[in-house]
Amino acid sequence: MNLPTEVRYRPYADWTDEEKTKIRENVAKSPWRASYHIEPETGLLNDPNGFSYFNGKFQLFYQSWPFGAAHGLKQWVHTETEDLVHFTETGVKLLPDHENDSHGAYSGSAYQIGDKLFIFYTGNVRDENWVRDPRQIGAWMDKDGKIEKFDKVLIKQPADATEHFRDPQIFDCKGQFYAIVGAQNHDKQGFIKLYKAVDNDVENWVEVGDLDFGDTGSEYMIECPNLVFVDGKPVLLYSPQGLDKAELDYDNIYPNTYKIFQDFDTEKPALVDGTPIINLDYGFEAYATQGFNTPDGRALIVSWIGLPDVDYPTDKYDYQGAMSLVKELSIKDGKLYQYPVEAITSLRASQEDFSEKTATTNTYELELNFEANTQTELVLFADQEGNGLSLTVDTENGKVILDRSKAGEQYATDFGTSRECTLEAGQTATANIFVDNSIVEIFFNKGEKVFTSRVFPSAEQTGIKVTSGNVSGHYFDLKY
Ligand code: FRU
Repeated sequence: MNLPTEVRYRPYADWTDEEKTKIRENVAKSPWRASYHIEPETGLLNDPNGFSYFNGKFQLFYQSWPFGAAHGLKQWVHTETEDLVHFTETGVKLLPDHENDSHGAYSGSAYQIGDKLFIFYTGNVRDENWVRDPRQIGAWMDKDGKIEKFDKVLIKQPADATEHFRDPQIFDCKGQFYAIVGAQNHDKQGFIKLYKAVDNDVENWVEVGDLDFGDTGSEYMIECPNLVFVDGKPVLLYSPQGLDKAELDYDNIYPNTYKIFQDFDTEKPALVDGTPIINLDYGFEAYATQGFNTPDGRALIVSWIGLPDVDYPTDKYDYQGAMSLVKELSIKDGKLYQYPVEAITSLRASQEDFSEKTATTNTYELELNFEANTQTELVLFADQEGNGLSLTVDTENGKVILDRSKAGEQYATDFGTSRECTLEAGQTATANIFVDNSIVEIFFNKGEKVFTSRVFPSAEQTGIKVTSGNVSGHYFDLKY
């Protein structure tokens, strides 16, 4: 939603209780609230931040502007979880209340050091002429959730980057802390800077250099770069804004992509022997995905189900955005798989054989099997006429199409109303489909290809129809 700058940057303290109550009441009117995904209580949620393990629990923060469905003065809201499925929101942890983050506590990462959580994030600072000074800054969070911000700027805008310099990710490689930061150069191309903690002191960083990851620079900015190690292989996840479509076919306003590498040369610095750039998600919205390696070596990711510069049907209810399920990464036959963590099955409240339904709660999981060389069309959120979210699975030609043109309230149609991907032709396929009122996450072949999307059904769109072909499997009611 387009709101004037004065509204979006109005100091938090100036919002009255009446105004806040009105916003809360408006959110409550929405027919589309999710039941087992994280959504903002009010206002806008965007990037996942500070995904980490600390104090015996997983920590997950998110970017938020709490006063409406717009990108305003950002803060970090904190959630924690033991099973990566059930989250408890504890409240706001980083307010834009310091001279180093005066115009927003922007995205970043976190890592447990000693008995504290080190938070590494971007302070968005603007001067009276609205000129931006992006500052990479830090804070400690203790076990009681108390925050202590550093006064010192950890990394300043380098001479070869524009004001678009943000989203530090701290990671450990062989016992040494590094950080990567997304950037734009003066030719308006995206790039990534690599830094190193001097003597592993996270309050003291030096530049190693521009990270060579075989990038063409066809994008104008790289947001939210993340490096994780999956079965020992470095995987770079990033959001290249404005990427040339000749380089990668994508329909969303901005893609979220990755490359798998064989090695990480920390001296050069370079990620070595990489795959081409690959779309992380084939759905209508997955962005700013954040990953980290757990203490036991797993690579976990979570995505923002939303996109920058897009208006959503929920905007009229003063909120926007959701977090995806937590997905675990693995590599099989050189391919990256993303699949919800094991504990997701704990949401299954009842199980039955898959069949058509006229009325569901729109909170369920389907586990489906498609025979080789068949064509099936399935409609989720189907009304009496069979209009809804159409999923066509053609295992003969190896093609999947997700079409939301008849699923409820339309939006972002300038970017098309269907999405597709390929599967191996002539093979059987499986799909695990997680439906949550206005969110759909579809995992083909246990995470080989993923579609993450919003859909805003009408009140009548509660059914499941098979309009052609044949499919078997299970239906699980999900309860949070
Ligand atoms: C990505 C992003 C980040 C930035 C944050 C601000 O969606 O633009 O680059 O830190 O959102 O909320």
